[in-house]
This record gives sequence, structure tokens and C-alpha cells, in this order.
Amino acid sequence: MKEDTSKKYIGILPQDQLLKLYAKHVNAPKVRTFKGFGFGVMPGERHGIKFKTLAGVKSSDPPLEIYNCRSSGGVFNLGHCNPQVVQVLKDALDSGLDIGDHMLLSEWRALLAKKLADLMPPGITKTTFGVSGGEAIDTAIKFSRAYTKRRGCISAIGGYHGHTGFALLTGDPEFRETFLWHNPDFKQVPFGDADAMRKSVTEEISCVILETIPATGGVLIAPEGYFAEVREICDNNGVMLIIDEVQAGLGRTGQFWAIYGGMYPNEKVIPDFIVCGKGMSSGIYPLSTCSYKSFIEKEIFNEDAFIHISTTGGSDLGCAVASEMLDIQSDPKFLEHVRQMGELFGNGLKSIQTEYPEFIKEVRGRGLMWGVEFYDENLCLKSMILCIQEGILLNYCGNKKNTLIIMPPLIVQKNEIEEIIVRIRNGIQKLKK
Ligand SMILES: Cc1ncc(COP(=O)(O)O)c(C=O)c1O
Repeated sequence: MKEDTSKKYIGILPQDQLLKLYAKHVNAPKVRTFKGFGFGVMPGERHGIKFKTLAGVKSSDPPLEIYNCRSSGGVFNLGHCNPQVVQVLKDALDSGLDIGDHMLLSEWRALLAKKLADLMPPGITKTTFGVSGGEAIDTAIKFSRAYTKRRGCISAIGGYHGHTGFALLTGDPEFRETFLWHNPDFKQVPFGDADAMRKSVTEEISCVILETIPATGGVLIAPEGYFAEVREICDNNGVMLIIDEVQAGLGRTGQFWAIYGGMYPNEKVIPDFIVCGKGMSSGIYPLSTCSYKSFIEKEIFNEDAFIHISTTGGSDLGCAVASEMLDIQSDPKFLEHVRQMGELFGNGLKSIQTEYPEFIKEVRGRGLMWGVEFYDENLCLKSMILCIQEGILLNYCGNKKNTLIIMPPLIVQKNEIEEIIVRIRNGIQKLKK
């Protein structure tokens, strides 16, 4: 019989005791918030597109089984504990690989950067590694400032690029003010409005940073031609274009890059930087990447090759895991699967909208990244809770709270989508009560 090792790491203590520990030693308001949603439960066993909680809402209740339609913003693109990726990590550890020494050169960073360069839009051939998405965004902004010798940065209102230094400055005031974090060089303009961008991009600006599909901002779809126009505005002013593909990249739209054909098949814009995070980890080993055009390198590293470092960024183990992920997710058959499932999913959500036009204003998205906009925030929050009660984990967009963002793992199958749509419909139907 196979030895049951799961107990060593999952369900070590009963859920109610763990919630108390979490409140006492990690974050009490977070525990209160989740309890308020009726979802004061902790994930336990996890596999494929589902996970089980340690117990039910009451500790005496049996565990809940949840379809993860959040995927942690793309971390679980390949589902939970993808066996192929887990095997790579086990094999790599067994072969004696560890995180490596960031000061030294690395076989795995070389191999992964080459693989990424082959997948990138033409000309983006260099990669600097990090651990989190925010770190990689900070890197792109740092490098843009060094290259252009300018300070200014333009981002989108409602956009989100992380909670680290420069990344935080690109975001909405809600997340910054508590930390007294303000810098007049950083400005925001409405997303999708090329005229507003044109007016703001001057010769003081080092970079424009945009998500291809702002996720926290409400799964916004820019009009066709917007990114091409932004590219032109940047070119005319000597400004770097940073594209954040932390959520929309790596196949989420059914194309490998959202910026390079994933939004509109004929629109293949080439930015100066592409930043990835979340899904680079496959939910197994953290890694982020800041990839850029080769001409940028000399302004950063020629004088000092060690001017930018990250001890655990681009660890050898993380690179081995990411390399496997790239092989899986860049396979044309995999991308075709995402397109087919995406169509099914989008049609399912649109049919729910047709049934409940009094609640749902719009359904929009690409591939397996969908936004469902309600007429108000209250309807959206209630439907989120009702869907969770139906066993579907999804969330509202932090910067557009009348919109649900729905991102199942990319490995989701037809029968699972049918089940998920039935459950979302059941949840939304209860709004009538
Ligand atoms: C689009 C986008 N960029 C960057 C980040 C920051 O990533 P991290 O939380 O790994 O720092 C996030 C995180 O949610 C994100 O959604």
C-alpha cells in the first residue's frame, strides 16, 4: 500500500485552532473578513482544478470541495500540484540542485532565459530574474530609468503591478496612502484612452507601464489599436513600454502572449519589456522574470555587472520548474485547448447574463480570463459569496468592485466547465431571493 504522507503537511491541527493561530500571529483582520464572508476555512488537500478545505465552515462540518476559479491570478495555470511539474522538482532535488548562488553564473538561468527569448516577441532576448511579480516590475522601472536617464512613469488608473517599491507607486492611491508613499513622477491615466496617454507622455517620462488586460482593474479590454498607438507614442518620445503579463500572459488568452496577438489576432505589438510572475511558479516554486530588448543591457550592467541582484530570484530549482511549465504552456495543442475551453466558458457566462440581465451588465474577456460586471458592488459581493457557497472560488476585482474576475486553471476540461457554469448560475439565481 502507498504510504500516506499527506497527513504530515496537511491538517496538522484542527482548522479552528489554526484560525486562532493565524489571527494571533499572522493577521487577525484577514481572519475576521473571511469569517464574515462565511468562508473562514483553510485550504487543505489540493489537486488539479480543485482543493478541499481542512474542515467545513464549522469545524465539525466535513471539508468543502472547491473548484478554484481564481487560480491565484494565474499561479495555478496548470492546476494544483501538477504531477509533471512536481516530478521535475523532485528530480531536480534528487540530482543535487538547490537554489544556487546569485553572485555566480548559473546553468539554469542561461537555459531558461534562452527558452524565454525563443518564445518572446522578436528582439526581447534578455531576462533578469526575481522572486515576485512586484520585484520584476520594480526591475523593469529601474532599468527604464537607467536607460532613459528620466524619472517619470505613466500607468493606468485601476491597474495593478504589485505592492513593492516602484510597483506600488504605479498603483491606485488606496494601497499607497497608508504607507505615506507618493511620488509626483508617477502619474496615472485612464486605461484604453490613447489621447490621454498622448497628453501625458512627455520628455520627462522614462516608461509607460500597462497590463495587457488589467485584472484588478476589472478585466478591461482595450479597443483594438490602443496598444499600437501607445507603442507609437512611446517611440515618438523615447519612452520605454513595459507590458505586465503577470496575469494575462503564458497562454491565459489562448495565445502565449496577450500583447502579441492574444488581445486581437492581428495586433502584434512589441514592447521593450515583458514582465511575468505568478504562473512562472506553476504554484510550485516562486519565480518572476523581467525580459527586455538587448540594447537596454549596456546602460544597466556595463559599468557594474552586479548593479542589480536578487539572492533567491532566478533560483536554479525555480528555473527548472519554469522550464517545464514553458514547454507545456507554449505547446500549440495546449494553446488550442485554452482557446476551445475559453469559448465554452465565455459562452456559458454570456448565457447566464442573458438569463439575468437585471443583475449583470457585461461579460468580457479573452481565453480563460473573464470579467462579469454587475450593476453595483453589492450585487457583485453577494454573487461572489453565493458562488463560493456553490463550491466555486472566485473574487471581485480589487480596483473595480462591481466586477467578478473568473480565471479557472488552463487545464480545465469541458465537463468541468459545464459543472462550473451550472454552479455559477445557481449562485447568481439566488440573488433573486
Ligand atoms: C498584473 C499583476 N502584476 C504584478 C503583480 C504583483 O505580483 P506579486 O504579488 O507576485 O508581487 C500582480 C499580483 O497580483 C498582478 O496581478
